[in-house]
Amino acid sequence: MNILLLNGSMRGNSSSSLKIAEAFVRGIVEELGEDNTKVTKVNFRDAHIEHCYGCFCCWKLKKGECVIRDDMDTIRKQVMEADVIIESFPLYFFGLPSKMKAFMDRMINFVSEYRAVNGDEATGRFLHEMRYPELMKKKLVLVSACGYEETVDCYDAVINQFDKICGHDNYTRIFVPQGGMLAEKTFENKIARYIVKFVEAGKEFAKNGKLSQETEEKLQVPMLGHNTFAQAINLNWDEEGVGPYGKIVK
Ligand SMILES: Cc1cc2nc3c(=O)[nH]c(=O)nc-3n(C[C@H](O)[C@H](O)[C@H](O)COP(=O)(O)O)c2cc1C
Repeated sequence: MNILLLNGSMRGNSSSSLKIAEAFVRGIVEELGEDNTKVTKVNFRDAHIEHCYGCFCCWKLKKGECVIRDDMDTIRKQVMEADVIIESFPLYFFGLPSKMKAFMDRMINFVSEYRAVNGDEATGRFLHEMRYPELMKKKLVLVSACGYEETVDCYDAVINQFDKICGHDNYTRIFVPQGGMLAEKTFENKIARYIVKFVEAGKEFAKNGKLSQETEEKLQVPMLGHNTFAQAINLNWDEEGVGPYGKIVK
């Protein structure tokens, strides 16, 4: 299984979302074996990804080829070669962070132009066809950490967006609250125990090609109880001399 892990957090390797995504990937690799898996990680922080110009040259002139030459040339090839694409990103303003969105916009050449079915004899239907139907066989997994205490309602816009793009049953959601706490050294032991369920989820995914709704819901359970989280988050902001996600919470 060829796994492409796209890290859309500008925190790079310090990303909490990535920590979860890597645990999930570890589970897949443990289940299928190292010889049967290949993992490619791309840090968007280090990648040159221009914004889509909106020129539609890829649809009109270049038959699927984007006019912009940047790291998307390589990333598109990696997407084509992957069996599983994991988009790992923090939640920003209840949506995707801008570089992950830029990546998605630049994938518009993977669908064909939007046009009326049957032209003059139009049936009233309009559609985009998949330029590369083999894309339908690939699995998409979203992994995202957010800062709030719980994920409740936080991911509505993201889910709405991907439901429209892929269909609700055609992609996997791993959404995790209290993301900042996953970088908190004080909670090292708690984090190590918390992470195990994402490794297990990776194994389930490797076996079944998807996660059950029950597992998706279980993965959203916060690491900290209400009072501990409240204390930790306030100390984090209030305590002098302690940077974001400092080290002094008991
Ligand atoms: C610009 C910005 C916007 C954010 N918006 C939200 C938000 O809408 N909801 C939320 O729960 N957390 C929000 N957060 C917090 C991040 O989602 C959180 O810190 C996350 O754990 C970061 O993940 P990462 O380490 O993978 O980058 C925001 C953070 C930033 C910097």
